[in-house]
Amino acid sequence: RVNNSGGGNSAAVLFQGEVDMIIVIPAVFSASEVTKIRSHLDAADWQDGSTTAGSQAQQVKHNQQLALDSKVAQQLGDVIINTLSQQPTFVSAALPLRIFPPMFNRYCTGDTYGLHVDNAIRYVPGNPTPIRTDLSATLFLCDPQDYEGGELVIEDNFGSQRIKLNAGDLVLYPSTSLHTVTPVSDGARTCAVFWLQSMVRSNQQRETLFELDQSVQSLTAELGAGHDDVVRLSGVYHNLIRQWADT
Ligand code: NI
Repeated sequence: RVNNSGGGNSAAVLFQGEVDMIIVIPAVFSASEVTKIRSHLDAADWQDGSTTAGSQAQQVKHNQQLALDSKVAQQLGDVIINTLSQQPTFVSAALPLRIFPPMFNRYCTGDTYGLHVDNAIRYVPGNPTPIRTDLSATLFLCDPQDYEGGELVIEDNFGSQRIKLNAGDLVLYPSTSLHTVTPVSDGARTCAVFWLQSMVRSNQQRETLFELDQSVQSLTAELGAGHDDVVRLSGVYHNLIRQWADT
């Protein structure tokens, strides 16, 4: 991240506030939990994945997925959301308001998802409340050695970030980013993807809050929750939330 305090690195400061954060949360699920999830998924009924994409994305989406209304998808989706709702880094980074239930994707040999941007508004079937997609998430449900290719490539201001995580790890990135899944050339890549509407719409404000919260957490560990400066800084965090959050 850009450090603004030195004064001597003005070239780097040009990017301040424009860099969208890509956040990796390791080990959201343990190896044994992933094995359990996978045993349900591998036995499930997979369909052509292009049916749920928007019209531009449909042209470039080649993979398989579970039907949104399948019982397996709904039950595993609930497990994922319940787990993440209690995951402090996820909550701090996302400040979720509404979460679109996870969809389960499988990329077999030859499958790919070309360059696209995710639909801005999504509806859960049967629910009239729109969900604006502020953040996109991918939960990896297989290990990197299980397949060749299949990297999630996210375009940001510094170029492209190539992401291929361990089973059980999650990546969270702004839905405003163009992204792609490169072709799988061997094996199969299984993952869950979902979107969420954040209480804080602006990537920049949300990222500022995340950094502030992380600092408050580490100062709390160092100085204790009752330290004057910790209390003050905590107050600043909550007052910014009050200004910036929609509920
Ligand atoms: Ni996408």
